[in-house]
Amino acid sequence: MSAFEPVVSVPDHILSINDISTGFIEQLLRSADSMRDLVATSGGDTSLKHKLLGCIFYEPSTRTSCSFQAAMLRLGGSVVCVNGSDSSVKKGETLQDTIQTMACYCDILALRHPEKGSAHSASLVSKRPVINAGDGVGEHPTQALLDLYTIRSELGRINGTGPESKLIVTLLGDLRNGRTVHSLVKLLSRFPHVSLIYVSPKGLELPDYIYDEVCSNADVDQVATMTLDEAISVTDVLYVTRIQKERFSSSEEYSQVMGSYCVDTALMKKAKAKMVVMHPLPRVDEIAIEVDSDSRAAYFRY
Ligand code: NCD
Repeated sequence: MSAFEPVVSVPDHILSINDISTGFIEQLLRSADSMRDLVATSGGDTSLKHKLLGCIFYEPSTRTSCSFQAAMLRLGGSVVCVNGSDSSVKKGETLQDTIQTMACYCDILALRHPEKGSAHSASLVSKRPVINAGDGVGEHPTQALLDLYTIRSELGRINGTGPESKLIVTLLGDLRNGRTVHSLVKLLSRFPHVSLIYVSPKGLELPDYIYDEVCSNADVDQVATMTLDEAISVTDVLYVTRIQKERFSSSEEYSQVMGSYCVDTALMKKAKAKMVVMHPLPRVDEIAIEVDSDSRAAYFRY
């Protein structure tokens, strides 16, 4: 029998956290539990036999691309890949034409592209569902879902228990360009009793439009004034991101913020015994290697 449970309302495409209902999120979390058990017990099943995923990646990727492929293969499906650097994209083919072609071959498409809004543009011409696997500095909704699942697995909850006992999530790093952060704060703001603390180098603050969107969810607090030293002792989840070098207009601009923060053992000594350290990866220099063996580091946990 398949590990899938019937889903009540599936979005046509997953382009943004805004496309995903809270009911669907709960169903996905339960389904992820079943999938984890399935892989641990039998390695997979054949529920997606003869189904084909198109993995279309115009930007580098290790985890997102391989995890989509691994999931498909574990469920008996198959994958065809388009890579921006060795396909007709190099000959000048438009995104729209590539998408329309791939939608003829595949049952579903996962797209990563450097432009914000590209997944939305793809969805307008695709006959098949499109999943946004990262659109420039826009969003990365599937990473945020995984992050939510990790928080629940690590702490046993995804929100606080009341106004006096909120879940405090500190987001550290390049909050301006970090699309995983944009999706995660939108997702977390759906849940009650959550406080978000933003710590970033000057110029890399969370964009106002994301802050305002999160604000519209009445129950969430957002604080952007603390330093990492001030925030660390109250933090339940420390979500670390790298500075997104490739999004800077010049190497001078990047060198002004490069190496400006690092989570190390000295910082970890000031943190709660049950704090969780997360990172969407890749890591550059923002978490010292010595932290990897700390039991609170969840970024390589299987
Ligand atoms: C991130 C991404 O590509 O947005 N990684 C990921 O998908 N897991 C983060 C990053 O590149 O820094």
